[in-house]
Amino acid sequence: MAKSSARYVCQACGAAYAKWSGRCEGCGEWNAIVEEAPRAAAPGGLGGAKAGSMARPVAFASLSEPPAERGPGAERRATGMAEFDRVCGGGLIPGSAVLIGGDPGVGKSTVLLQAAARLAEGKGGPGCACAYISGEESPDQIRLRAKRLGLEGSAVQLAAATSVRDILAGLDRNDAPDVVIVDSIQTMYVDSLDSAPGTVAQVRGSAQELIRLAKTRGFTLLLVGHVTKEGVIAGPKVLEHMVDSVLTFEGERGHQFRILRAVKNRFGPTDEIGVFEMTDGGLIEVANPSALFLAERRGEVSGAAVFAGIEGTRPVLVEIQALVSPSPLATPRRAVVGWDSGRLAMVLAVLEARCGLVVSGRDVYLNVAGGLRITEPAADLAVAAALVSALSERPVPEDTVVFGEIGLSGEIRAVGQRETRLKEAAKLGFGQAFLPERRARNGQTGRRRTDGLRLQEIGHLRELVALLSNDTAAPLSVYRNGA
Ligand code: TYD
Ligand code: MG
Repeated sequence: MAKSSARYVCQACGAAYAKWSGRCEGCGEWNAIVEEAPRAAAPGGLGGAKAGSMARPVAFASLSEPPAERGPGAERRATGMAEFDRVCGGGLIPGSAVLIGGDPGVGKSTVLLQAAARLAEGKGGPGCACAYISGEESPDQIRLRAKRLGLEGSAVQLAAATSVRDILAGLDRNDAPDVVIVDSIQTMYVDSLDSAPGTVAQVRGSAQELIRLAKTRGFTLLLVGHVTKEGVIAGPKVLEHMVDSVLTFEGERGHQFRILRAVKNRFGPTDEIGVFEMTDGGLIEVANPSALFLAERRGEVSGAAVFAGIEGTRPVLVEIQALVSPSPLATPRRAVVGWDSGRLAMVLAVLEARCGLVVSGRDVYLNVAGGLRITEPAADLAVAAALVSALSERPVPEDTVVFGEIGLSGEIRAVGQRETRLKEAAKLGFGQAFLPERRARNGQTGRRRTDGLRLQEIGHLRELVALLSNDTAAPLSVYRNGA
């Protein structure tokens, strides 16, 4: 066997070097390179592959072959928590690996314990055997949590372990559980590696062994992953490539809403979200998120606009709040929560350059109420409405929803799923929509639809500015250049 020599691995990107250095050439990260012992071959299947001589030729199969009974072709295992199942694409796939990332304390352990209990009870289909392996808490602590959640009677099997070898020995049997939860992958270690748990090599090695067993035994593996302070899942990027799905569990501190989002899904869509509310009794599903996100609205106040958005297949209405105030700073502050700050800069630039509003010299704060993160460009027009309203100190009419993408010349571009957005707005009692024109202008502006919604089609951002200031003398003139 070759003599093993140490190598140096960047903990941020996984690049390996023969010598230590302060900065990784691969990703530019400082102080991320750590000495790691290479994998040594170990008995029992763990560790490095033996070269050449033992090779067995791979067997090829056709695409039309029937699926294996316990593999990905088999039926999905639904938890019966609609918000969870939808994000997974309809349920958990046997033999697949799912990584769930999120900030500490956001509720990853809670949601997985609740999902496991529901699977064990058969709330979403035939009951299946679930195992919950924790490297962070003792079985007593997990029992305490289960009691708090009212799940103390459920048939979930608990274990506290951090050695992957021990876990594999416990799971590698014919009656292996159907669903295995490992909380968290950063606490697991493979004993053939010298590096500490949580390092790139250990995370990669542990995940590899667990995923391999999940594929051969046909159980669904749910891995909890920590996130770094930048908000990405800690450990090598390869971890995200190794698993079949990556879910993130998000929530703002101080808000009770939690959002489960699929960022990668080999077996389903990736733009779905599941909305939960954290309560004393655990996470509760929120079937109608729009009502929840709008629950704290305070009538007609300036600087707020309701955005009719789409998350996955579902319309979600959410309030966007803006505050504009004179800035004492040479470089005014631009603070954004829940939206892209680059996109805000673009909307501000278009308001200045194309509509003559003055925002330079002012601090701008933008906030998506409720802790939701919006990524759709369709929110541009709602952001602009909130900003114009904040500048003019005139509220956007209370019964109005807004959506549309803004182009650099100030033109308002059409966005998808117009009808779905309008239906949701009508359902929640809104009376008016500011929206992009249809491609061929069909005189819909001002028209009232059968569901009571009045459509106010907007072709250019200037029209929105005029709309939000039309019935006073010249409310925006203070903020205008020249005119
Ligand atoms: P937890 O699931 O331990 O978070 P994670 O595993 O992501 O680190 O959740 C911990 C937080 O959730 C903690 O701040 C308390 C809160 N919580 C409740 O509010 N209600 C509950 O019923 C439970 C179990 C936790
Ligand atoms: Mg936890």
